This record gives sequence, C-alpha cells and structure tokens, in this order.
Amino acid sequence: MSKDQYILAIETSCDETAVAIVKNERELVTNVVASQIESHKRFGGVVPEIASRHHIEQMTITLQEALDESGLSLDDMDAIAVTEGPGLVGALLVGVNAAKSVAFAKQKPLVGVHHIAGHIYANRLEKEFEFPLLALVVSGGHTELVLMREHGSFEIIGETRDDAAGEAYDKVARTLKLPYPGGPHIDRLAAEGEETIDFPRAWLEDGSYDFSFSGLKSSVINTLHNAKQKGIEHKAEDVAASFQASVVDVLSTKAVRAAEEYGVKQMIVAGGVAANRGLRAALQEKFEAVDTELLIPPIHLCTDNAAMIAVAGAVAYNQGHRAGWDLNANPGLDLELYSNRTKLSTE
Ligand code: KG4
Ligand code: ZN
Repeated sequence: MSKDQYILAIETSCDETAVAIVKNERELVTNVVASQIESHKRFGGVVPEIASRHHIEQMTITLQEALDESGLSLDDMDAIAVTEGPGLVGALLVGVNAAKSVAFAKQKPLVGVHHIAGHIYANRLEKEFEFPLLALVVSGGHTELVLMREHGSFEIIGETRDDAAGEAYDKVARTLKLPYPGGPHIDRLAAEGEETIDFPRAWLEDGSYDFSFSGLKSSVINTLHNAKQKGIEHKAEDVAASFQASVVDVLSTKAVRAAEEYGVKQMIVAGGVAANRGLRAALQEKFEAVDTELLIPPIHLCTDNAAMIAVAGAVAYNQGHRAGWDLNANPGLDLELYSNRTKLSTE
C-alpha cells in the first residue's frame, strides 16, 4: 500500500486566519479557523489594515494549534499549500510568507491556490466529484457559475456584472441596521417574514448566466426611503424575506437552467452565501426535478477555511503544480488564468 499523503494549507485572504491538514486529497485531519469578525463589526465591514495585523498575531498560534490537534509534525507533510489570491493584499501576504517560511525551512514543495478553487473543492470533503460539473459560487466577493470538465479546470460561464451576492446581503443588512456580516441576520429575519414587497429580478439578456445585484440593492434602499417619507413602516422581517426571495429566485433558476443546458452530473454550491437556508431549500426543491446531483457543503465548510485550500492544493500538487520561492500575493488572481496555469504545469 502506498504511503498516506498529507497537505498542510494556510488561508488568510480576508478576515479568517486558518490552517488545515488534509490526508489523501479528501480526508479532513484538522481544520482550525481563527475569526476576526468581532474586531471588524464596529466598522461595519472588514478593515484591511486591521485584518493584516490580526493575521500576523494569529498565524503562528493557528499553525501550532493545527499541528497539535493532528498529532503530526511539519516533517510529516508532503507539501504546503496557500491561498495566493484573490483577496486583500496585506492579508494574503501574511499567509503566503508563512507558507514560504515553513516550506523553505522544511524543504517542502509549495503550492499556490486560488481562493475560489478552494471554495469549490470544499465539497470534495463530502463527496467525490463527477465531471462535467457546475459550481455556483456565491461569496462576499464572487458570484459565478463555473464549469469543470476535469480536476483543476475552471471555465466561467456566468458572473456578476456588479455586486457579489454576499456583498448585496451585507449592504442591505447595513440599510436595515443589522450587524456585520449581514448575510446570516437577513437569513434569520427572512425566515420570520413574508414576501410583501415585489423587488425586481435581474434576469439580464435571454440565455445569459451573468448576474447583477446592484439594482436590487438600490431598489431596497429606495423602497425604504420612500416608505419613510410617506410615514409607512415596512417590517424588517418582510424586507429581508422579499429581498432574499429575489436573490434566491435568480440564483436557483439560473443554476437549474445551466445544469440542464450543460448536461452536468453534479451542481456544487460554494462560498459563504451557500450557508443561506432560503437558497439551500430552493435549490434542493428545484434540483429534485433535474437529472443532476446537488452538493451543498455543511455550513462550517461554506465560509472561509483552510481545509478547502488543502483539498484544492492537494489536487494541484498531484497534477504537478509547484510554486517557486518567488510566490507572491496576487489580490486580483483570475480563476481561468489559474486554471490554465495548472494545466500547463501538467502538460
Ligand atoms: O465565502 P465567504 O466566507 O468569504 C468570501 O470569500 O467572500 O463569504 C462571506 C459572505 C458575506 O457576505 C456573508 O454575509 C455571507 O457570505 N453569508 C451569508 C450567510 N452566511 C454568510 N449570506 C446569506 N445567508 C447566510 N446564511
Ligand atoms: Zn471565501
């Protein structure tokens, strides 16, 4: 029997300092996440400078905790994977430098990972992939439909033209004076409200898999403003339910249409907004009528973590991808360029 393979991964692209170890590509050994949400709450969003400082404080502690929990040492690792982008440059730099230091000190191979490839690969901890598959990526910074024909290959068939879904949730939550991050609060309120306001759905051109959420966000703000001027008060629960109905309707309808057109075996849902109960329920209902298996990760694997980076990193490592000691943080890293780069290194 061949020897077990261990990949240690580091993720610091936004406001979580995370370290995880994954065995044989898809078995989770340990997954430590140090969240900074409390420090950013009073500013209503992530403050990049504060995020970087927290990552520096937490990096070695989190790394040690992951190793202690696993009972393994750095010498046991086959490679070190790290999120190289996209994300906040100062935050990414902390993880990239930590990974480079560890890899250099222990003379281990280093692998750079795209954050969204990580979100998609979080699903592989639950279930083996079957290609072709589509991934609906809905996070704070991204809303994309990604087609995968094989491991490590990512083709964007639709994306947001303005705000990401999570961003829209956070902005509407702010208008309703809910704490940051607003997505989970809107989710909770929506479950208690009724769809009393008919907010617009941005379907865009016929056949388009692109998304747009800025019109919806403006519509929520204008509706609340106009109501206030007329002395009408909308219940926050109803505003949340009506807003969520619009987002969920567009996301789930386009996901089903894409699954049918591309004839995919699986539809994977990824990113922080995949934690949304309304979205999960709507997708589950709509995919019952389709010949595509729906995979939604457990909530702790939807939001940022390093386990997902370890899984995507293990695949890239086993395809022969290696980063040099000149690996840098890449805040605008493009998913399709990353995809082709991984392919080139295996040819
Ligand atoms: O994937 P993620 O953790 O970070 C990024 O890579 O962006 O996503 C964070 C986003 C935030 O906008 C947050 O409000 C949203 O995911 N989110 C939710 C829920 N939980 C987190 N949005 C809607 N409903 C939720 N339950
Ligand atoms: Zn993320």
